[in-house]
Amino acid sequence: MRQKNKRGNKSRHSASLRGVLIPFLAVCCTLSIAAIVLYAQNKPGAPDSQASAQSLTEAKATYESICASCHGLDGHGGERGPDIASRAEVVDKKDAELAEILKNGKTAAGMPAFAGFGDTRIAGLVAYLRTLQGHGDEAPVPGDAANGKALFFGKAKCANCHIAGGQGGFFAEDLTSYASRMNADDVRAKILNPDRDLDPRRGMVNVVLVDSSTLSGTVRNEDNFSLQLQTLDGVFHLVNKTDIRTQTYAGKSAMPSDYGSTLSPAELNDLVSYLLRVSKSKNKQSAENQLEDGDED
Ligand code: HEC
Ligand code: HEC
Repeated sequence: MRQKNKRGNKSRHSASLRGVLIPFLAVCCTLSIAAIVLYAQNKPGAPDSQASAQSLTEAKATYESICASCHGLDGHGGERGPDIASRAEVVDKKDAELAEILKNGKTAAGMPAFAGFGDTRIAGLVAYLRTLQGHGDEAPVPGDAANGKALFFGKAKCANCHIAGGQGGFFAEDLTSYASRMNADDVRAKILNPDRDLDPRRGMVNVVLVDSSTLSGTVRNEDNFSLQLQTLDGVFHLVNKTDIRTQTYAGKSAMPSDYGSTLSPAELNDLVSYLLRVSKSKNKQSAENQLEDGDED
């Protein structure tokens, strides 16, 4: 009883306070919202950055729920869609061109059309794509690009699997423009640790056939009836599923994961420096010429 009474008194007291406070707070809120809106509108460059901060969050969510299933969370590509974060063909496109691709899709090639999103949402996606593409690193890299080139095509055997600057093997990605939008640390980390973030289905697979012969390499294509496999020598094999006894993913990349011990830190710097150089030399003829000088051997 006493409790109740007390509460009753208290609430009557606060009711009268509320009568003053609520209109006061309402005025304050309205004023501060108006102030924020005015501030955002007047701050130079702000309308864009405020709107885009919000649409970027939205675009990230859209990207992760829709695009990532084909292009990968980081945009570096997956089984059903190409790399849209680092390939020069995509990075070099203008915003308007990218928006056009998103709008119309390339339906014959497996890229759906997203015209239904409307222009604003598409512009947000293009902006988010740019964040995935990162920003080129202009800082000089310690290391000797010419020596890195010699390592790439020589001792380190990168060219057994990769192309750079038009030469090399076809087993793995062409690395010519790989480093164009990355910094030295990211490139080094990728070389040292190819198994990190690896989708096991893109890594090594070992296949035992019913005749007990074996194949190991990476899966290039797979449907219900067949498996297309590329062995380390670069040769493609088309295998009927009925001919396969076991198919085991090794959970590791086909790329050697021991460069941290087979190359010295200085040699790694040289390689990173070469990859950064060759990716820029695509755009800058002068860098290309400089590297060509070291070619005559
Ligand atoms: C069902 C899989 C799939 C989905 C979902 C998808 N894409 Fe694609 N996308 C592709 C394929 C496949 C291509 C390559 C088309 C070609 O070969 O020309 C592509 C191409 C692209 C390209 C052009 C690349 C180039 O080489 O010019 C961009 C940009 C792109 N996609 C962005 C997106 C974005 C952003 C989303 C999400 C809104 C998205 N894609 C959703 C499969 C997909
Ligand atoms: C035996 C073949 C092989 C050799 C040798 C090899 N790689 Fe790779 N590399 C791959 C494969 C396969 C991938 C892609 C799939 C993956 O991530 O496992 C890859 C991925 C990469 C990537 C990431 C490319 C991307 O688009 O994400 C870089 C960078 C790279 N390699 C650099 C090098 C360098 C530098 C060397 C030499 C020091 C080298 N690789 C030697 C097979 C090889």
